[in-house]
Amino acid sequence: MRDQFGRSIEYLRISVTDRCNFRCIYCMPERGIEWLPKPQILSYEEITEVVRQLAPLGLRRLRITGGEPTVRPELARLVGMLRAVPDIEDIALSTNGAKLPQLAEALRAAGLDRVNMSADSLRPTRIAEIARRDLGFNPVAAAQAATDAGLDPIKINVVVVRGINDDEVEDFAALTLERAWHVRFIELMPVGDLAGTEFERVVPSDEVLARISARFGALESAEGPARGNGPAAYHRIAGAAGSIGVITPLTHTYCDTCNRVRLTADGRLRTCLYGDHEMNLRDALRAGAPLAPLFAQALANKPREHELLKLRVGGLKALSEVGG
Ligand code: 5AD
Ligand code: SF4
Repeated sequence: MRDQFGRSIEYLRISVTDRCNFRCIYCMPERGIEWLPKPQILSYEEITEVVRQLAPLGLRRLRITGGEPTVRPELARLVGMLRAVPDIEDIALSTNGAKLPQLAEALRAAGLDRVNMSADSLRPTRIAEIARRDLGFNPVAAAQAATDAGLDPIKINVVVVRGINDDEVEDFAALTLERAWHVRFIELMPVGDLAGTEFERVVPSDEVLARISARFGALESAEGPARGNGPAAYHRIAGAAGSIGVITPLTHTYCDTCNRVRLTADGRLRTCLYGDHEMNLRDALRAGAPLAPLFAQALANKPREHELLKLRVGGLKALSEVGG
């Protein structure tokens, strides 16, 4: 399964809902977005059917995303169904972590391999300010629950926003000293409510790394977690158990190694996070038509790289719509 630029596509991100129990300032407006009507959302059976049809074409790795995937009922049931599809080697979950203490065991038992969790602050008041919801979320406890359930590796994603949480970069980095967690700092993409704030709010990843080495000493470059080859570049504090990654959508593009496509909750296949490269699979699926030809056509149109600039004149309402 290759796209028009020869990139091998073996990784599908599956959004199971556009809804979320948070309203992060960099992601969703306070009032939420216009949620998809339920009948438009793929059932777990339909999602599994898409995966079943793509696996013979080379699909090997899955990530369940949202919105916030854990707000959809019975998520562990979907994990079990996906686990049963032959040739699927790896199933990961991206979550805001709020429900991990409750759900980690059941998800692991159903066959989930690993999680990426978001955490933008380690301070309760600030967590609630950034998420605009106070669910009593404790990131360290949530990551520990995932670790205890046997999920591995554990990645913690921090969106760094200047003037909001950039003073916690060192505290997050310190989490990797004792625990084999992978903390990844993500450059803010200034969309939605933060559109137009790139000069005041974006903290380039080079600055994040410089702050960390000023506190902890020169960073070693690291391999990063064995499983999952996303767009992060990894480093390590000397002697630390975990690693530090940076994801740099703005200062360095990584599109040339892009190995992924996305399925939206309502069954659109998106071949790039940004822009209008998508194809409706739901109608074909519900009509019983084979998906392989549509998939081939979508890959033939996968763009070489994202066009973030276009986003400022329209585009997405929130990144949560396409599963981050
Ligand atoms: N900039 C950067 N990352 C974002 N995410 C969502 N919105 C943004 C944004 N504006 C990503 C982050 C977050 C996850 C849920 O989605 O990784 O942790
Ligand atoms: Fe929800 Fe994640 Fe968006 Fe925050 S960033 S509002 S947790 S989808």
